Amino acid sequence: MINQNLTFKNKVAVVAGGTRGIGRAISLHLAQRGAKVIALYARNREAADELEKEALSNNLNLTTIRGDLTHPEKSKEVYQQINDHASQIDFLIHSAASGVHRPATELTEKHLAWTFSINVFAIHSLILNLKPKMCRGSRIVGITSSGGTRVIPYYTAVGASKGALESLFRHYAYEFAPEGISVNMVCPGLVLTDAVDAFPEKETRIQKSTEATPTGSLTTPEDVAHVVEFLCQPYSQQIIGQTIIIDGGKTLLS
Ligand SMILES: NC(=O)c1ccc[n+]([C@@H]2O[C@H](COP(=O)([O-])OP(=O)(O)OC[C@H]3O[C@@H](n4cnc5c(N)ncnc54)[C@H](OP(=O)(O)O)[C@@H]3O)[C@@H](O)[C@H]2O)c1
Repeated sequence: MINQNLTFKNKVAVVAGGTRGIGRAISLHLAQRGAKVIALYARNREAADELEKEALSNNLNLTTIRGDLTHPEKSKEVYQQINDHASQIDFLIHSAASGVHRPATELTEKHLAWTFSINVFAIHSLILNLKPKMCRGSRIVGITSSGGTRVIPYYTAVGASKGALESLFRHYAYEFAPEGISVNMVCPGLVLTDAVDAFPEKETRIQKSTEATPTGSLTTPEDVAHVVEFLCQPYSQQIIGQTIIIDGGKTLLS
């Protein structure tokens, strides 16, 4: 692979959930732009090893760190390993997510707590621990979904967690802007990743989403990675606390 555009040379990116799906595309994309990438994941070592192999064969600087970010002790080990790998962090991208897909009446407090633990609390803890390594010009990018502001059947727990995440990010954006740390979010439409396999009525949703998308095609992980790159560029410094929708125009109609 030949890529001359090394705009992120000497930059360090931490991508939580960076080994699969959208996060994987972001990890590879930032590494292709010259960044040293630390991709975090929870359990799927096979996917992490495969990503490291792909990075190595393309001469990219990418390493993976395993650890469940909802687990206090495991998280501490992850932070320690990040500290060992990097003295500064320029980009912190939160693409890790999970959740229970059930209607509201079937959701227990435990389901909600588990969903919030990775989708909301983990990023707060990551930020508290890694922010001291971020300086002027750094970027934090989160990933939300249309379920943060709209109803998607069975998406109650994840949608609620995304709504909370969006509010949290607006507050980070406001608080960190004077320090030169820009905080924003991206909001992709449906992206065909492993996560979609867990959606009830998956095939119907894919068909309906495609039909309701003016461009006629679903968003790809690479579409999202390009927008994250844009937000990490120095020229994006005046974009603060925004959510960029990447859905082929689908929400224009809803
Ligand atoms: N796919 C969509 O249609 C869509 C649409 C809008 C927004 N989004 C958002 O985009 C982001 C990425 O979604 P995706 O579809 O790419 O997800 P995905 O394919 O399921 O990948 C999730 C990643 O997060 C990691 N992860 C999950 N729980 C973790 C934990 N407790 N600790 C550390 N890492 C953990 C996973 O690690 P393991 O590999 O070890 O499990 C994996 O690397 C999420 O925020 C999602 O809500 C997705």
